[in-house]
Amino acid sequence: MYNFSAGEPDFPTPENIKEAGIDAIKNNFTKYTSVRGISKLLEAICQKLKKENNLNYTPEEIIVGNGAKEILYLSVRTVCEIGDEIIILAPHWGTFPEQVKLAGGKPVIVKTDDFRPSAKEIKKAITNRTKAIILNSPNNPSGIIYTLEELKELAEIVLENEILVITDEIYEKLLYDETKHYSFAALDPKLKDLTITVNGVSKTYSMTGWRIGYGAGPSYIIKKMADLKSHLSTNSCLISQMAALEALSGNQDSVKVMLSEYDRRRKYICQEFQTQGIEFIKPQGAFYVFFKVNPKFDSLEFCERMLEKFQVALVPGEAFGTPGWVRLSYAVELDDIKEGIKRIKAFFA
Ligand SMILES: Cc1ncc(COP(=O)(O)O)c(C=O)c1O
Repeated sequence: MYNFSAGEPDFPTPENIKEAGIDAIKNNFTKYTSVRGISKLLEAICQKLKKENNLNYTPEEIIVGNGAKEILYLSVRTVCEIGDEIIILAPHWGTFPEQVKLAGGKPVIVKTDDFRPSAKEIKKAITNRTKAIILNSPNNPSGIIYTLEELKELAEIVLENEILVITDEIYEKLLYDETKHYSFAALDPKLKDLTITVNGVSKTYSMTGWRIGYGAGPSYIIKKMADLKSHLSTNSCLISQMAALEALSGNQDSVKVMLSEYDRRRKYICQEFQTQGIEFIKPQGAFYVFFKVNPKFDSLEFCERMLEKFQVALVPGEAFGTPGWVRLSYAVELDDIKEGIKRIKAFFA
């Protein structure tokens, strides 16, 4: 079986981070912590946001959670009242609309032909029930990164309509071809009051199983998120917090090594798809190639057939609000990618 369906790095967690986890256990860092996380980690997150994202936050404006996923849910659950609308841009990670529904809200999906954010389409989707918009750049599944101009247009709409922004920047370090990532909240000082920035260590440091994510936002929202979290999951695992502290403040060489391997795979797949005439979006970030299926089949049927006949697992675009497209994760060894691509090409031939 050639599995290209997983959204998780295939590398082991870097040694220095594993060591920090082991040390944490040996040194009895095994108890409850404050709900928002240990102060050393909150401070390290503030420093990281300042240095890398040009964002100024104090520890009171930070919350650590069980992965970016918990932070996203706490954000949505905190800002959304029953019947509120939350705008989500397609293609989108499948969890976004489900979390909005869980919070009693209504996901409003905005889709454009080129999968880029369109100020015009977003404006059309805004009603008096619109509470927030969820952004995700670099994007899962398209690998698209929003440009500074696009983000500035979004910022204008957000400020004009006073809606909140939940910006999921979990893939921010996985960038190719000199592309730049811009943190939404850094675009204008006024955006800080309206933005919850969500990030985590899962993708950058291959730490999916450690379950550490974090959010930065206005202190009144962060406090409400912490109140909710205190009755939901208390603190996030202290051992993992200690490992995340090493991830954020320790040696960063492993990130470069993983990125260069992703890039090698990305180039291989793009080259192969190009020669086969498969329509796809060249990823600027993250580790997914989003491609269009043979018009003879819909994407669900395509993925079913690829699995049954060719033992290749992919994710149909239906999961991301964009039928007709398929996501291939290249967080998989190059040899397996080569065999998988051969099989996909055979299907297209
Ligand atoms: C866009 C996006 N946000 C968040 C997550 C979840 O991250 P975490 O493992 O930190 O919960 C994923 C994982 O697939 C993702 O694709």
